Amino acid sequence: MDFAAAQQRIQFLSTEINRHNYHYYVLDKPLISDYDFDQLLDELIELERAFPGLASPNSPTQRVGGDITKEFKTVKHKYPMLSLGNTYSEEELTEFDNRIRKAIGDKFEYVAELKFDGLAISLTYKNGELVQALTRGDGTQGDDVTTNVKTIRSVPLTLPPGDYPEEFEIRGEVFIQRPNFEKLNQKLAAELREKGFDEEEIAEQLYKNPRNFASGSMKLQNSAEVAKRKLDCFLYFLYCNEPIAETHFDSLKKAASWGFKVSDHYKKCSSIAAVMEYIHYYDKHRDQLSYDIDGIVIKVNNYAQQQELGFTAKNPRWAISYKFKAQSATTQLLKVTYQVGRTGAITPVANLKPVLLAGTTVKRASLYNADEIERLDLHESDIVFVEKGGEIIPKITGVDLTKRALTAAKISYATHCPECGSELVRKEGEAVHYCLNEYACPPQLKGKIEHFIGRRAMNIDSLGTETINGLFDKGLIKNYADLYKLTREQLLGLEFTIGDEGNFKKRSLQEKSVMNILKGIEDSKQVPFERVLFAMGIRMVGETVAKKLAQHFRTIDSLMNATPEELLSVNEIGDKIGEQVIRFFADDKNRCMVRSLLNSGLRFEVKDEEGFERSDKLAGKSFLVSGTFSISRDDLKKLIEANGGRNVSSVSAKLDYLVAGDKMGPEKLKKAEELNVKIITEQEFFELVK
Ligand code: IVH
Repeated sequence: MDFAAAQQRIQFLSTEINRHNYHYYVLDKPLISDYDFDQLLDELIELERAFPGLASPNSPTQRVGGDITKEFKTVKHKYPMLSLGNTYSEEELTEFDNRIRKAIGDKFEYVAELKFDGLAISLTYKNGELVQALTRGDGTQGDDVTTNVKTIRSVPLTLPPGDYPEEFEIRGEVFIQRPNFEKLNQKLAAELREKGFDEEEIAEQLYKNPRNFASGSMKLQNSAEVAKRKLDCFLYFLYCNEPIAETHFDSLKKAASWGFKVSDHYKKCSSIAAVMEYIHYYDKHRDQLSYDIDGIVIKVNNYAQQQELGFTAKNPRWAISYKFKAQSATTQLLKVTYQVGRTGAITPVANLKPVLLAGTTVKRASLYNADEIERLDLHESDIVFVEKGGEIIPKITGVDLTKRALTAAKISYATHCPECGSELVRKEGEAVHYCLNEYACPPQLKGKIEHFIGRRAMNIDSLGTETINGLFDKGLIKNYADLYKLTREQLLGLEFTIGDEGNFKKRSLQEKSVMNILKGIEDSKQVPFERVLFAMGIRMVGETVAKKLAQHFRTIDSLMNATPEELLSVNEIGDKIGEQVIRFFADDKNRCMVRSLLNSGLRFEVKDEEGFERSDKLAGKSFLVSGTFSISRDDLKKLIEANGGRNVSSVSAKLDYLVAGDKMGPEKLKKAEELNVKIITEQEFFELVK
C-alpha cells in the first residue's frame, strides 16, 4: 500500500473505530461483535506500524496506554475547579432555595443530577481533539493526567464533526462501574491467594471502594496499567468562551450530541419540591444503578442567572450537593464465629442471613473484638442493622431491640480457641483475645508459613495457600524452616484441595510446578537480611522495624544476643517491640529454627551491596527528594538512609531538607517555600555527606 492509500485507510479505520467505541462505551449499544472490532483495530495497528509518520497522538490505538509519566506536570486551570457546598437535610436545601429566591426572585428552574462518586476531571478539546486532562488538584492547579485519561474508552479522543466551539473545556467524573470493580477485586484476591497472602492481608490489600480506586488509578505512572482498569467517565459541565446554549440543561444535551457520555438521569425541576422528589427517588433506587453515587447535585439551570448569583470564595452560589446518608439494611444474626490469625489474635465474625446492601449480598460482618460485641449488646438471633460506609466490609451499627425474643441469650465470647481448643487469653489493657498455643494451633502455624513466603517477605510466589495447606496437612512442613528441606520426591504428586464452601477441586503437583516451587525456595536464599527478619513473623516487627533492626545489628547473632538496653537504643524501637524481640529469641524453638535457616543458607547479615559508606551525618534529619538528579532517585534515597537520614514523601513544616532536582513539581517547591523548609541542590546535599 502506498503512503496516500495508507493515509486514507488510517483515516477511515480511525473514524470507524471511534464510532464503534462510542456505540459500545457511551451508548452501551454495540453495532458490531468484539471480534469484528478487534479486526479493525488490528488492521490500524499494523498500518501505523508500517507508516509510523501517520500515527496521530489521538489514534484509537493509543487507548492501550504504554507511556510512563515520571512526575505529573502541574497545570493551572483556565477556570478554577470549585467544589460544591454540601447539605445533608431537607431544611438545609430549603435554606439554599430561599437564598436563591432572595437573590434572583421566583422565576428560575433547577437541574437535578446524580452526584457521581469518583474523581473530578477537566478535559480540554481543541478542534475536536482531546488535548489535555487535568485533575482538580487544589482547585487552582491540577495534575496533567492526559496520558491516563486517553485510556478511558468512553472519553472521546477525536470528536466527529459537530457544532462545538474551536476550543472548550468539559468537566466530569472518572469512576468505575461496580461490577467491573468487583471483578478486578476478585482477580486481585485470587492472585494474592495464589502468592500465599493470608485472608487478613488480602482484605487489607483489596481496593477499598470504587472512589479510591478511580482516584488511585489516575495517579498511576504507567498508563498501560490504567488501561486495564476499565475506568469510565460521565461529563456534567461545559465551559466555552462563546455561548453555545442558554441553559445548563441544553449544554448537557449538546455535549451528548457531540459524543460525550452524559448520564440520562438529569432532570429539570421547576421547584425545590420537585428536587426533593428526585432526591427521594434516587435515595431509594440507587442500588439499581451500576455505579456508586453519594448524593444529588442541584444546579440553577439558566446561565445568566448563574452569573447573577456568582460565587463565594469556595463554591458557586447557584449549585449545591445533597449527600445521602450511608446505606443500611436489616438482617438476622445467625451465629458468631471466630477467626484465628497467624499471631493467635482472634477476630469475631458475625455470620448473617444474606441481605442485599448497596448492590452486593452481605453475609458476614467483622465484630472486631469482645468490646464491640459488648457495646452492641449482641444477643442470639438478633435483628441487626448493617451499614456500608465508603468501605466494602460492612459493619453492624445496632440492634433492633423491638424484634428480640425474650428468651434470647446474650452472646458470650468464646473461651477456647475454635481451632485447637486452648483457653483464650485477653491481656490487661488489650481489646483482642489471643490463642497462646502458637506452636500447635494449625491456623497460626500455617499463617506464619504463609506470611514467611509472602511477597514482601521471602517472595516465594510459586507456593500458595493451598499448597501450604496441603504440605502442612500431610505433615511435610511444620514450620517455615522445613520449606528448605522439601525434596522433589516429596512434592511430586502431592494432592491438595482448592476452593472453599462446597466448591472443592482436587489437584496434584506435577513436575513443572514442583520445579517452580523448588526454584522459588532456592531463589529466596538471596533475599536480604531485613526481609528475612520481617518474614520470621516476630510480633510487632513489621517491615520498617525489621529494616531498622537489621541496619543497626547487622548480623542475626548480635540481634539474638542483644540486651533490652541495646534494643532500646535503636531509633524508634520502644519497650514493647524490644520485649517481643527478646521474647522471640529467648525461645529455644525459635533459636533452633534460626539455626536451621542459617544451615539452609539464608542471608542473616547485612551486605553493603549498594557500596555506600555508612555514617550518622544525617541522623535525625528528614529529607524529601523531588525531581531528577545525576544519580537515580532510589540511589539518592539509599544514600540518605546510609547516612542515618530519613526519607519522607511530602512537604510539611517538620521537613528538614527538600533536595531539589531538575523538573521538580512547582507545587512542592511552593509549599516548601511557604513553610520555610530548607531547599538544597544535589551539590549542596553531597556537601552534607562528604
Ligand atoms: S458540578 C461548579 N455535577 O462533586 C460545578 N459535580 O463538590 C462543580 N460531582 O468536585 C461540579 N457529580 O467531583 C457536579 N453531576 C455533578 C457531579 C459533581 C459528582 C463531584 C465533582 C465535584 C464535587 C462537588
